[in-house]
Amino acid sequence: MERYAVVGNPVGHSKSPQIHAAFARQTGQSISYEALLAPLEGFADYARDFFNSGGKGLNVTVPFKLDAFQFADQCSARSRNAGAVNTLSIDQNNKILGDNTDGVGLVRDILSNHQGIIRNRRVLVLGAGGAVRGVLEMLMREQPAQLTIANRTVAKAEQLAASFTDCGPVSATSFAELEGERYDFVINGTSASLQGDLPPLPSSLLAPGAWSYDLMYARADTPFTSWAKAHGAGKTLDGLGMLVEQAAESFFIWRQIRPETLPVIQLIREQLQ
Ligand code: ATR
Repeated sequence: MERYAVVGNPVGHSKSPQIHAAFARQTGQSISYEALLAPLEGFADYARDFFNSGGKGLNVTVPFKLDAFQFADQCSARSRNAGAVNTLSIDQNNKILGDNTDGVGLVRDILSNHQGIIRNRRVLVLGAGGAVRGVLEMLMREQPAQLTIANRTVAKAEQLAASFTDCGPVSATSFAELEGERYDFVINGTSASLQGDLPPLPSSLLAPGAWSYDLMYARADTPFTSWAKAHGAGKTLDGLGMLVEQAAESFFIWRQIRPETLPVIQLIREQLQ
């Protein structure tokens, strides 16, 4: 049986083993997939051992996505733009390939699972950390009318915007400067929800029928999703769909088979309750 895993620290909370087990059942693929805790200072050695002992693929989660980027012998263009690798595989020549499926996971969840529209919309992204960098290229490829990055530390948003100007109209702003602005699509990529917190957002931020998307997910609404519901959002989504979609893209990289994601999203949602 070919061996796969997600590696992180911590990793106990990861839903990836359930997701990949469901994909394997659905597609009749005989694989094993486990959650592995690597030491904080020892990702490269840990990953090398995994592949040397016959492992076929790794998903990489917090805090190792940058280590994985450095560890891979060769990285895809999309992972270079994301500055991070979440999927490692090994080719016939024992070369380690790095890829990033987060951005495509987000966009597929919005477009395919929910028939959402990014093209020609005014899109606001909150946060300028690793999670946001990981999805910006794929969002820009959908050609929003404008993509604005708002961050508490504005310099980080400016830096990020500057590195994506080739992809289309992208700019940076502080939260205070959002006063009076309106957006059709607001994506929360800050880690504020983790502390039960919310960036300071003006109450008129959402255009009528605007969509919100929190890259985080939880059993109940995140603080951002609650805020969006209370301020007129037409639709509120969370990151569970993205999680399953990024996993499906990894599964495709490894097994060249595309699993159906909707039943798996439903399954994981039920398990969360
Ligand atoms: P991740 O990998 O999850 O993106 P990160 O790189 O540490 O983690 O980035 C966290 C993001 O959430 C940053 O944009 C951070 O803002 P700063 O750059 O100003 O630190 C943002 N963030 C975290 N807590 C926040 C809060 N309470 N309010 C607003 N933004 C917050």
